[in-house]
Amino acid sequence: MSKELFPAANSAQRLGVPAPVLNTTKAPLQRGRSLMDWIRLSKSNVDLRGTGPRPLKISMEELAKHNTHDDAWMAIRGYVFNVTRYMEYHPGGESELMRGVGKDATSLFEEVHRWVNFESMLKACFIGTLIPDFTTPRQPKSTSSLLSVPGNNLLKLPRSGKIGGLQYFNVGFKQTEEEVIILFRSDSFETSVENFVCNISDDGLSMHVDFISHMQSLSYFITLHKQVKESISVVKKEVIEIVLKKAEPGSLWDGFGSCKHTQPFKNRLLSCTLISKSNITHNTLQLHFRLPESCHMLTPMGAHVFFQASIEDISIRRPYTVALPCITESTCANDSNNFYTLIKVYETGALTKVIGNLSPGDEISVATFEIKFHLGLISSFSNILLLAAGTGFTPMVRVLHHCLFNTDKKVQLGFFNKKELDILWRNDLETLKSRFDSRFTVDHVLSQPDQDWSGLKGRVSIPLLKEMLSNFQIDTTFVLVCGPSPFTTLTLKFLSDMKVKSSSVFAFT
Ligand SMILES: Cc1cc2nc3c(=O)[nH]c(=O)nc-3n(C[C@H](O)[C@H](O)[C@H](O)COP(=O)(O)OP(=O)(O)OC[C@H]3O[C@@H](n4cnc5c(N)ncnc54)[C@H](O)[C@@H]3O)c2cc1C
Ligand code: HEM
Repeated sequence: MSKELFPAANSAQRLGVPAPVLNTTKAPLQRGRSLMDWIRLSKSNVDLRGTGPRPLKISMEELAKHNTHDDAWMAIRGYVFNVTRYMEYHPGGESELMRGVGKDATSLFEEVHRWVNFESMLKACFIGTLIPDFTTPRQPKSTSSLLSVPGNNLLKLPRSGKIGGLQYFNVGFKQTEEEVIILFRSDSFETSVENFVCNISDDGLSMHVDFISHMQSLSYFITLHKQVKESISVVKKEVIEIVLKKAEPGSLWDGFGSCKHTQPFKNRLLSCTLISKSNITHNTLQLHFRLPESCHMLTPMGAHVFFQASIEDISIRRPYTVALPCITESTCANDSNNFYTLIKVYETGALTKVIGNLSPGDEISVATFEIKFHLGLISSFSNILLLAAGTGFTPMVRVLHHCLFNTDKKVQLGFFNKKELDILWRNDLETLKSRFDSRFTVDHVLSQPDQDWSGLKGRVSIPLLKEMLSNFQIDTTFVLVCGPSPFTTLTLKFLSDMKVKSSSVFAFT
C-alpha cells in the first residue's frame, strides 16, 4: 500500500481536514453510547468531573499528568474538561479523542470539527480553566479593528488591501431618496453574491455582513447612520451592492455610519422557519426553510449550514448540506431567502429527531454556512465522476445540476446504498438520464439488495471504480466523493491505489 498521504497534504480537498484520511477509522459506538445516551448521563447525578464542584485553575503541567484513557483531561479554548467518561460516547472514536488528551487541544479540535458545541456538551465535565503557558510563543490575538470608512460615493473608495496579512474590503455607499446602497469591494478577495450572508438588526440600525469562502472568512459590523426597513436585496456588479430601504424616505444620509471589521469570523445564528417537509424515501425528508426577511443568504455549491437545537438543555449543532428544491429543471434553485435540505432522520438521532418533528411554521436556529469546495476545482475537467453513499448524495445534488444544465461536461454518478428503497430521488435521476442521454449515467450499487435486483451489488471496490472510470479518460476526469467516513476513506484509498492524481479528487468530509 502506498505510504503517501492521499489526498496530498497540500491538496485543496484536505483543507480543514487535518487527520490523515487513510488512518481514520471511525469506531462504531457501542449500544447505549449514542449522543442521546450522553445527554442523559450528563443530566444524571453521576459525577463526571471527579474534582469536586469548585472550578480549578489548572497549569499545563497538571493537565499533562491526566493523559491516559482512565484519567483524561483536555483543554479547549481555555476551559479544561475531564473527558474520561465521554471517551466511549465520542462519535469520532476513543483513539481520536485520545489525541487531544493531557493537552491544550484547541487547534486540533478546531481543525476537526469547530462547529461542535463542546461547552454545552461537556458542561457536566467542566473542571476549571487553564493557566496560560507563557513559555510558549503566544498566538496573535484576534483583532477587532475599526476601519474608518467615510466615503460617500464609489469613486472615492481607496483600493482594498491587507491589514496584518488579512484581506479586507473597502466599504462605501451611494443613495437615492428611497434607498441606501452599501458597497463592498475587494481586489483580492474572490467573492460573489453566493459567498456572503448579511442581515440587519431588528431595530434596523445595524447590519452584519460575513464574506465566506473556501479560503478565508471575514465579518463586518456596520452601525448605520439612520434607520432602515427590514427588507434587504443584494446585487453583484463590479462590487457587491447591498440595497437597504430607508425608514424615512427623502432624508439624506451624511455617510452610511461606521464599519467595524471583526476577526475571526464566527457563524451567526439565524432563526429559520420550516415552510414544508416531504418524504423522499422512508427515512429521508426534504425540508424547505425560509430565512428571516431581514437576511440575505445565497449559499455556494457544496456549502453546509449548521442546525442547532437545545436538547435537554444541551446545545447540539450539526452540519447539513444546502441542496435544491428539485434537480430535473434548469430553474431549480435556492434564493436568498429560501433554502432546501435533504435530511435522513435516525430513530435514535439526537438532532435529526428534533428536525424530523418540526412542523411547517416552526422555527429552528441555523448557523451561517461554511464551504470547503469551490467550482474552480472542476472547471477545467470535461468529465465528472460523482461517488456518493447514502446521504453523501446531498453535496452532489448541486454539482450534478450545475454540470448538466450549465456546462457540457459528462457526468457519471456511482450511487451506493443499502437497498433500492434508500435511493434518493431515483425517479428524478432517471428523468435526467433520459434528458441528458449522452452526458449522464447513473450506476446504482446496493450492499443489501433484494433477490430481484439485477444491478450492481456490493460495496465500493477497485474493480467497481475501474468500471465506472472506464468511460472516461482519466486525465480529463475529476472525482468527487461523499459518504459516511468509512466509505470516503476506502474510496480515497482505492483511487490512490489506482494512481488517480490527488489534484483531481475532492472529498466532502
Ligand atoms: C459537512 C457535512 C454535511 C452533512 N450534510 C448532511 C445532509 O445534507 N443530510 C444529512 O442527513 N446528514 C448530513 N450530515 C450528517 C449530519 O451532520 C449528522 O451527523 C446526522 O444527521 C446525525 O445527526 P443526529 O444528531 O440525529 O445523530 P446522532 O444522535 O449522533 O446519531 C445518529 C445515528 O447514528 C448512530 N451513530 C452515531 N454515531 C455513530 C457512530 N460513530 N457509529 C455508528 N453509529 C453511529 C446513532 O446511534 C444514531 O442511530 C452531514 C455531515 C457533515 C460533516
Ligand atoms: C481534540 C481532540 C478530538 C479529535 C481528534 C476528534 C476527532 C473527531 C473525528 C475524526 C470525528 C469524525 C467522525 C466521523 O464523522 O468520521 C469526530 C466527531 C465528533 N466529535 Fe470529536 N474529536 C476530538 C474532540 C472532541 C470533543 C472534546 C468533543 C466534545 C463534545 C467531540 C465531539 C464530537 C462530535 C459530537 C462528533 C460528531 C460530529 C458530527 O457528526 O457533526 N470531539 N471527532
